[in-house]
Amino acid sequence: MEDGNPLSDEADHGDPLNASLPTVVRRLDQILATLGYGSRREVRGLIDAGRVTVAGSVQTDPGAKATPRDVAFDGGPLEFPDGILVALHKPVGCVCSHDSREGPRVYDLLPPRWLARNPVPTTIGRLDKETTGALIVTDNMPLVHRFASPRHKVEKVYDATLDAQPGAEIVAAFAAGTLQLAGEDRPCAPATLVSKGGNEIELTLTEGRFHQVKRMFAHFGIRVVRLHRARFGPIDVGNLAPGEWREIRLSEFE
Ligand code: URA
Repeated sequence: MEDGNPLSDEADHGDPLNASLPTVVRRLDQILATLGYGSRREVRGLIDAGRVTVAGSVQTDPGAKATPRDVAFDGGPLEFPDGILVALHKPVGCVCSHDSREGPRVYDLLPPRWLARNPVPTTIGRLDKETTGALIVTDNMPLVHRFASPRHKVEKVYDATLDAQPGAEIVAAFAAGTLQLAGEDRPCAPATLVSKGGNEIELTLTEGRFHQVKRMFAHFGIRVVRLHRARFGPIDVGNLAPGEWREIRLSEFE
């Protein structure tokens, strides 16, 4: 495959959690362009200027073949040569859309060069503008598809403040997996609702429908006042302050 990073081809690598990193040999100008270092023309200028090395030696031929891990730019390794996979602590007020007309983007919290990559990094699922917490950003498209698939039940744990205390009938309805939301063709999967005292709750879902938490409570006339995703699968925000991110490994999902 000749575009993007080596993890972008689902067909070649099967389950992304079990895929070993392939050694992809590509043209130097293509590597740099797809990793966001400039257009093809711009990266050829960088290569011509002697700013790029392969396995420690300056390489001025843009058509020279290399693996991204062996390439250095201005003396340092390329950023995320095998693809981007990070956990971001999403702050209030950012949207998960790439469209800046919708508001400040979570992507604006990340290094600008990432948006020039091909494929461009994306979030695994979305959080609403006012929701905070654990958000995965990656250019590993097989991983995005894997987590989007209903077959793979990834636990998402939410902490929320409600405008009322949910009763035992709501706990039971969520657990039963029979809650039918308006406009949906099948009921929500069983979900675990735990009271944290007063109007504070923890809700664990294994799916990710549009505005799901808010709609589940709205079904019972309860409004979600504050929503924070504490965990996406095994990934939590740990010590990250809102807006901060950390690199994660595929093995953390196993
Ligand atoms: N459910 C919601 O209602 N909003 C979110 O952001 C995430 C889950």
